[in-house]
Amino acid sequence: MNRTLTILKPDCVRKQLIGAVIEKIETAGFRIVAMKKTKLTKETAGEFYAVHRQRPFYGELVEFMSSGPCVPMILEKDNAVDDFRTLIGATDPAEAAEGTVRKLYADSKGENIVHGSDSDENAVLESAFFFSTEDIVRVNK
Ligand code: RTP
Ligand code: MG
Repeated sequence: MNRTLTILKPDCVRKQLIGAVIEKIETAGFRIVAMKKTKLTKETAGEFYAVHRQRPFYGELVEFMSSGPCVPMILEKDNAVDDFRTLIGATDPAEAAEGTVRKLYADSKGENIVHGSDSDENAVLESAFFFSTEDIVRVNK
């Protein structure tokens, strides 16, 4: 078993798709080990996506991610990082495979419903960004 960190982004919350996306996540076999609704500031959104600081879309990304509440979650499943990125599909919904979360629900490459960690190392760092150990419920107990 391992873990990934996801964020249901502000567009997901605004479109009232939290339940629909969680249904896809649970149906795919992920277990939710931590979850909350929160709102990022420009500062915290900028810190979360600091790896993209030099990219042309960074300002837009920070504006978007701080534009409303979001729902970060830690998910647990065998091969969690890769399987979750397969479930959500390509960054740009126009390029995402049929049936993926972004293909089904995203409007654009910028506003694409959901975040997924890109490595086990980043999953650990990103989980600590949002959650403390007391927030993490051991599943199956
Ligand atoms: P994420 O980190 O959110 O899971 O997305 P990702 O790995 O599929 O894509 P990444 O390259 O890490 O980009 C992070 C987020 O920045 C926004 N973006 N906008 N307008 C653009 O060209 C553009 N490119 C990226 C998206 O919100 C993307 O998910
Ligand atoms: Mg990424």
